[in-house]
Amino acid sequence: DKFHEESIIIKQEQIANGIYSMWLKTEQIASDVRPGQFISIYCNEGSRMLPRPISICETDKENNALRVVYRVAGKGTEEFSKYKSGNTLRIMGPLGNGFPISKKKALLIGGGIGIPPMLELAKELDCEKQIVAGYKDEIFLQEELKLNGKFYVATEDGSVGTRGNVMDAIKANGIKAEVIYACGPTPMLRAVKAFAIENEIEAWVSLEEKMACGIGACLACVCKSKDKDEHTNVKNKRICKDGPVFLAGEVEF
Ligand code: FES
Repeated sequence: DKFHEESIIIKQEQIANGIYSMWLKTEQIASDVRPGQFISIYCNEGSRMLPRPISICETDKENNALRVVYRVAGKGTEEFSKYKSGNTLRIMGPLGNGFPISKKKALLIGGGIGIPPMLELAKELDCEKQIVAGYKDEIFLQEELKLNGKFYVATEDGSVGTRGNVMDAIKANGIKAEVIYACGPTPMLRAVKAFAIENEIEAWVSLEEKMACGIGACLACVCKSKDKDEHTNVKNKRICKDGPVFLAGEVEF
């Protein structure tokens, strides 16, 4: 079920250059969230009609609150970043399918603004967890992630952890797993897919980078899948409606 709500901002802060963390008090949405799902946030300024899809970073189910960590990437997210506690935002959610939970030894991989959804996933997985986060330079969510699994970092400039990307950190540390969950930029997800195929590991990827409207209205998010429909050879999937999480081998991206 998805809900439309007027949510109240509990707290907002900048946690890295251009990256904001916002806790929202909801009526129902937070208590319904599965890891890997997202919400759509509407702008209060009337000229911007389409909501912005933003992944859920963590929830506080007892207090029906949820946290989003997002990058200011345009006018909509810039507007959100200016709000303070007590301001309200119209939101819709929870949206998308989310990650399937299992007990297998897990490797969680987040790149850049794909790191936030890994926190709720790590909190909800009850198994052996290894988390690899890849940053450009500035680190965020490190403390929270460390509490929820064995934590590894890669930075492009090598200032923290392994110099390079998440795959370099995985190789440098000899990390092994039975299931991979990943969210991040498309080139990173392609590398994860290749690694998973080569090592025959089940891998779930969140293709949220390719989303635009998040509500099935713009069709900017379509990707090819391995499913065939009756008439044509390929069946397209809308990332925002059918995903954003897919088995890596099932979709082309
Ligand atoms: Fe617009 Fe999926 S993001 S249709």
